[in-house]
Amino acid sequence: MTAENFRTIWLKPDDPDVVQIIDQRLLPHAYTVHDLRTWQDADTAIADMYVRGAPLIGATAAWGLYLAALADPTPAGVRAAAEALLLSRPTAVNLRWAVERILRLVAASGDDLAQRIRTDAQAICDEDVEISRGIGEHGVVLLEEIARRKPGETINVLTHCNAGSLATINYGTATAPIYFAQQRGIDVHVWVDETRPRNQGSQLTAWELSESGVPHTLVVDNAGGHLMQHGMVDIVFTGTDRTTRCGDVANKIGTYLKALAAHDNGIPFYVALPSTTIDWHSRDGVAEIPIEERDPEEVSHIYGISNGKPTRVRTTANDTPVSNYAFDVTPARLVTGLITERGICKASEEGLLSVFPEMRDE
Ligand code: MRU
Repeated sequence: MTAENFRTIWLKPDDPDVVQIIDQRLLPHAYTVHDLRTWQDADTAIADMYVRGAPLIGATAAWGLYLAALADPTPAGVRAAAEALLLSRPTAVNLRWAVERILRLVAASGDDLAQRIRTDAQAICDEDVEISRGIGEHGVVLLEEIARRKPGETINVLTHCNAGSLATINYGTATAPIYFAQQRGIDVHVWVDETRPRNQGSQLTAWELSESGVPHTLVVDNAGGHLMQHGMVDIVFTGTDRTTRCGDVANKIGTYLKALAAHDNGIPFYVALPSTTIDWHSRDGVAEIPIEERDPEEVSHIYGISNGKPTRVRTTANDTPVSNYAFDVTPARLVTGLITERGICKASEEGLLSVFPEMRDE
């Protein structure tokens, strides 16, 4: 989203004991604000994907710990909530990052734990907006370079899942360079992957691009290779849920296949990420990143609107066995570069350390 004041999570203006979110399960058919009153509400919102996207998952967990401290302002109470929240979604490393940040506050001495957590949860959100802005500033340079190479022509970006404003606090990661390009008058068009089974592309990315007036076209997940073969994609931008120290990238299932197709067609494949998504303690993404397996019904059923009513229908036979891997890992060798808030770097340990030198001994 390009509106300055758009936020995906906030304190209820007239009741600071309540955190509010957009119930993303209902988009694009309904824009509904949902109240979180307990840390268990935050836990449900993350696990059941009212909110999703790595940075927003982390922020929601931080606000969940604020709600935990309101109910039980003891370190033990907050730590118990933290343990449970950490299990809500396993792949996005921002969740652990945010929970550990809040737990450092819990360990420090001071009055009014809930108010201290509230201040830090708000800081996490404000910092995330600035991080996305940084990613936009650096990533837009790639689009400006393409615009120089093909003056007067539309730049076609392909994206997968939703790494947009809805996945962060505002601006998104993969979408931030696109929004910045639009503001600079660059003619940009986005191919939006549907992103089965949860359809974050068709239901979220398409919605937020439309709200921001960015030209886009929805395609089925398997169309990417065809578009690339026919010169209809200039660059691929995706987000990530966890990137290892060596530049392996976990993202929504299907990202790896897009990277393979991009590699085969000589198309640049960039991953946009905040530093909070880097797992400095893992190296080999395929071996070390836990891949979330979700409810098989997300695959066997499909959700939509029929005659104005939300409807869920089964598309398979009753006894078809189903598995539902939610993420995959794209090896660093297939990633042209990583767009961070500090700049663009190679997808490698040296590349990441060139922009985050303070992590060398981590
Ligand atoms: O299952 P989701 O919707 O949480 O998956 C989200 C993604 O894969 C995003 O691309 C990723 O979190 C990056 S968000 C800036």
